[in-house]
Amino acid sequence: MFSKLILLLVLITYCDGQYFIPNNHFGDMKQVFAWNQIGYNIDGVNYVKNEPLQKIVGGIFFAEEPEEDERFFIQYNNIPIGFEVYHDKVFITVPRRRYGIPSTLNYVDLKSSKSSSPLLKPYPDANSITNFVSVYRPRVDACERLWMVDTGLMEVPNNFVQKKRPQIIVYDLKYNKELLRYEIPSDVLDNGTTSGLTSITVDVTPSTCDDAYAYINDLARNGLIVFSLKQMDSWRFSHPSFVYDVGATDFIVARQTINWRDGIFSVALSDPDSTGKRTAYYHPLVSTQEFSVSNEVLKDKNADFGAGFKLEGVRGAFSQSGSHDFHSITQTLLYANVAQDAIMCWNTRAPLTSKNTVPVAQSHTKLVYISDLKIVGEDVWVLVNQIPTFIYSQFNITEPNFFVHKGNVRDLIKGTVCSKWN
Ligand SMILES: *[C@@H]1O[C@H](CO)[C@@H](O)[C@H](O)[C@H]1NC(C)=O
Ligand SMILES: *[C@@H]1O[C@H](CO)[C@@H](O)[C@H](O)[C@H]1NC(C)=O
Repeated sequence: MFSKLILLLVLITYCDGQYFIPNNHFGDMKQVFAWNQIGYNIDGVNYVKNEPLQKIVGGIFFAEEPEEDERFFIQYNNIPIGFEVYHDKVFITVPRRRYGIPSTLNYVDLKSSKSSSPLLKPYPDANSITNFVSVYRPRVDACERLWMVDTGLMEVPNNFVQKKRPQIIVYDLKYNKELLRYEIPSDVLDNGTTSGLTSITVDVTPSTCDDAYAYINDLARNGLIVFSLKQMDSWRFSHPSFVYDVGATDFIVARQTINWRDGIFSVALSDPDSTGKRTAYYHPLVSTQEFSVSNEVLKDKNADFGAGFKLEGVRGAFSQSGSHDFHSITQTLLYANVAQDAIMCWNTRAPLTSKNTVPVAQSHTKLVYISDLKIVGEDVWVLVNQIPTFIYSQFNITEPNFFVHKGNVRDLIKGTVCSKWN
């Protein structure tokens, strides 16, 4: 009788909520880092609680109480949003969307950090705290370079300030040296808007390093910006498939109703064929559809995008997703599925239908708003930040709010429809 009651309660819980998958499987994911709040180590000085001013080792520190917009470190405002993994470095970005963010582009060392909540260090060094304004989701390319967009925007609500022109910045990861700063020209922005430039995808192979292309989403103004390294030129595509789907709004994350209008959010590339041709898969955040286009279209400044794009299919209810990435061996896309606190898969050999897109890991505590997702070799890595709680409610700073997890892709998809097609 008692167990029947529990079963009934469980059923009611699931029928009542949006979660139609009766599981909460963290599955084969492993926690790498967990932070209650973010702290920094800058030039050997630790910042682990609010600090009005930057401290200098051996320097004189005057106690002052600067205005909010001039405070060096307001800990609660530091929300990690993007990340990337390169050997033993995990890059962590903290876009400047509030005051008191000392450094936007940072890293932690996987080998030397014994803590599961390591302090962030500015990349490549402490000078970067003034060299970069605001960076979202950086990416490492096949030529050991780190690419990012610095939006140049201080994005404090009701007080956006464009501190610098937006730039594409590229670093050599072997020598930690800046290789390129390219100002994104006004004519590829829509009305000067830079707040939507939240990711970059690099199209290059190890044999064509000087002929790289970068694809930058503009989720605020529904565009896709293409940059050619060889031509030192950039152009913009606009298309209705970049726009959010009004029928896909109002999904729930962290008990908050998400009514954002975020358009094109993520571009994931298939492997190149022998001629360098690959498929670029993309979707708006607020959408349950997946689209694709050949990179040959993107690389052609004068291409007719509308003639080249394709609707791959509909992933199904509660499939709204942020970042996604392509796993070569299994030809599978993995998605940061924010509407179900899950990582979702779709094997691109299969037709895209709701039956062929399924969660492979789900946790209503540890995967609440996957803000970034990246496949590195055989593993998928995710950064989780529960950002709806920050925007609409309040973090409980006595428990972990931000996470980095990783898991083996083939283990994750084993036994699901995504492994059936391999
Ligand atoms: C264009 O930008 C200006 C200044 O930032 C703003 O006042 C205006 O509303 C914008 N126009 C549109 C159509 O968004
Ligand atoms: C905050 O988290 C702690 C530790 O998990 C818990 O004991 C406490 O009840 C939480 N506070 C609130 C207000 O939820």
